[in-house]
Amino acid sequence: MIIARTAVELSAALDSKTGSVGFVPTMGALHIGHRTLIEKARVENDVVVVSIFVNPTQFLPGEDLSKYPRREEADFKICELSGVDILFYPEVGTMYGKDEVSIKAPDVRGYILEGAIRPGHFDGVLSVVMKLLNMVRATRAYFGKKDAQQLALITQMGQNFFMSVEIIAVDTVRESDGLALSSRNVYLSQEDRVEALKLSASLKRATHLVMQGVRESNEITKIMLEILQPLSVEYVTVVNRRFEAIPEVIIGDTIVLVAARVGLTRLIDNVWM
Ligand code: PAF
Repeated sequence: MIIARTAVELSAALDSKTGSVGFVPTMGALHIGHRTLIEKARVENDVVVVSIFVNPTQFLPGEDLSKYPRREEADFKICELSGVDILFYPEVGTMYGKDEVSIKAPDVRGYILEGAIRPGHFDGVLSVVMKLLNMVRATRAYFGKKDAQQLALITQMGQNFFMSVEIIAVDTVRESDGLALSSRNVYLSQEDRVEALKLSASLKRATHLVMQGVRESNEITKIMLEILQPLSVEYVTVVNRRFEAIPEVIIGDTIVLVAARVGLTRLIDNVWM
């Protein structure tokens, strides 16, 4: 595995390879969810590139940028064992300069739900993803469905900027008790972890309701909110794949989303129907 720390090193590493490039961008603290993305990239491409970069521009003031889990050694090992060809591990100075051209998330879709709670977050995500996709010369890029709004916006960016990269959505990986894997799960205390299961439990209930024939979004979110008690819920909503709120579930074009605070930790989860 080649470890590239600068743009020049990355370019040289890519020049030494041929064929399609499967890219998995990450912020490190890798878990089985990331490994699933890497495995899919491995199967579908000649070359696999993973980036590890805790992108400062997607954190709002007061968020967890300084305490975001960093596990360089373990992450490098995981990448090596997963068959990654090139690991890109840049410094902030490699990724950002002064007075740059910037990418702005769309006014509506970028500023609802996650974007309403974290205004400007998606500007930072889209900027860094645009830079990384270009630097890595990605043929395909792999993103988890857990960050559904991020995935939708990156897909939209690809379309709006006529980018040739193929954006691939990969299913959320869960613990055996249902908790969606996330690098931020390390913040959860034992008690928090039990409470956190309410997110996946509420989504499981939503799925059962739909299987029983319930379609009204209000009915579904009402029952989910009961299950989520007494968590501090930020939103529970039913949207289509374009992130427009919909009054009724449309099978094949619906995502049910939840965001809540468990102790001091913000968690998000969703189910695609
Ligand atoms: O999902 C993430 O880990 C990040 O938002 C990403 C896509 C790597 C951009 O920093």
